[in-house]
Amino acid sequence: MDKKQFAILVVDDEDDIRDVLEITLTDIGYQVFLAKDGKAALELFEEKQPSIVITDIKMPVMGGIELLKQVKQRAPDTQVIMITGHGDMDLTISSLKFGAADFITKPVNVDILELAVSKAVDKLIADQKLAEYTHKLERLVVEKSRLNSHLSSLGLMIGTVSHNIKGLLTNLDGGLYITRSGLKKQNFADISEGLDLLAQNVDKIKQMIMDILMYSKDRQMNRQPVPAKKFLADIQKTMAMKLAHHPIAFHVVSDQAPRILNIDGAFMMSALVNILDNAVDACLEDKDKTGHEITLMVEKGRESLVIKIADNGCGMDVETKEKIFDLFFSSKQVKGTGFGLFIAKNIIAQHQGTVAVDSIKRRGTTFTISLPQKDQTLRSDQTPQSDQTLQSDQI
Ligand SMILES: Nc1ncnc2c1ncn2[C@@H]1O[C@H](COP(=O)(O)OP(=O)(O)OP(=O)(O)O)[C@@H](O)[C@H]1O
Ligand SMILES: [Mg+2]
Repeated sequence: MDKKQFAILVVDDEDDIRDVLEITLTDIGYQVFLAKDGKAALELFEEKQPSIVITDIKMPVMGGIELLKQVKQRAPDTQVIMITGHGDMDLTISSLKFGAADFITKPVNVDILELAVSKAVDKLIADQKLAEYTHKLERLVVEKSRLNSHLSSLGLMIGTVSHNIKGLLTNLDGGLYITRSGLKKQNFADISEGLDLLAQNVDKIKQMIMDILMYSKDRQMNRQPVPAKKFLADIQKTMAMKLAHHPIAFHVVSDQAPRILNIDGAFMMSALVNILDNAVDACLEDKDKTGHEITLMVEKGRESLVIKIADNGCGMDVETKEKIFDLFFSSKQVKGTGFGLFIAKNIIAQHQGTVAVDSIKRRGTTFTISLPQKDQTLRSDQTPQSDQTLQSDQI
């Protein structure tokens, strides 16, 4: 570290002493400022912010002790060296009380002056290093607690995910069993039921893998022009499979939708399917009404794409609504991981979008997603993802 980076303010009402100190310190290489009394020194101190102040203890206007107090108030780390004369013992003792770093006596001996300044510089360097270490330590503590919480949520995730996989494997076994026995008996209804069960559960595993991928890495969204028609048709296909055995109607309203959506198709699909899955669960949970329906509406806002997902399922109370985006919050006991909306919100946020929820208990719920779409039109060098499937196998 370059000792010469420390500027010194010399304060003395005697011209000769100021001259000697200025010459000596400038010769060593320090940047030196001079003042005749405490008041002038304080103004210069505020302007130049030197690291070291060398001040006479007795001066007109404002004495050395008052200057010391004022300097320490403004910048406690400043090293203040007092110049004392014979018979200044009382003043010397009180300057100790106010945090003076050292003393040199008049007449000033150049070697002693150099030694005192060099000690002050060493102290400043040590203080600087201590501040850097403390800062590093604070950062490490923050990082450690972040890792700890990540690790404990990872543990929780592994627990719940393994539990879910166990359930899904049981369902796959069931699907296989029904399909096999259908084949044995040449019973097409059984075969179809078995295959449906297999397809549904493979779909659930895909969705879960997408969620875990999204959670485990901070993935960058890859926004591209996606034809709305193809995107919505893929969602409709997925929903048809999910609702095959449930009396829930699914509507897509897209007459006001833009032709091209500027989104990461696979991830946005995953976000919407998570919200739609919840809508299905909410309709199944609701035993008060019949005629359940879920509506997906896509329309062009002023500068954004607006997507609404509404269901007339069980709805939720205010306390539940406040927690739905929290990681691992689920009201579904073993049936839910509490992952879906956390992931969905993350994906929407990575599209610089927002999501709002309206819900009334026993009436239903509406999610409103708004995604900025500055670049809604296709540039000539971009090909829409029309021929690709937008499901999780894109990841
Ligand atoms: N449409 C909805 N109607 C009623 N409650 C909802 C709706 N959507 C979400 N919720 C509530 O929000 C909670 C959190 O949803 P989230 O999708 O994050 O987790 P989950 O569905 O419980 O589990 P996972 O999606 O991981 O399988 C749900 O458990 C439910 O209580
Ligand atoms: Mg869910």
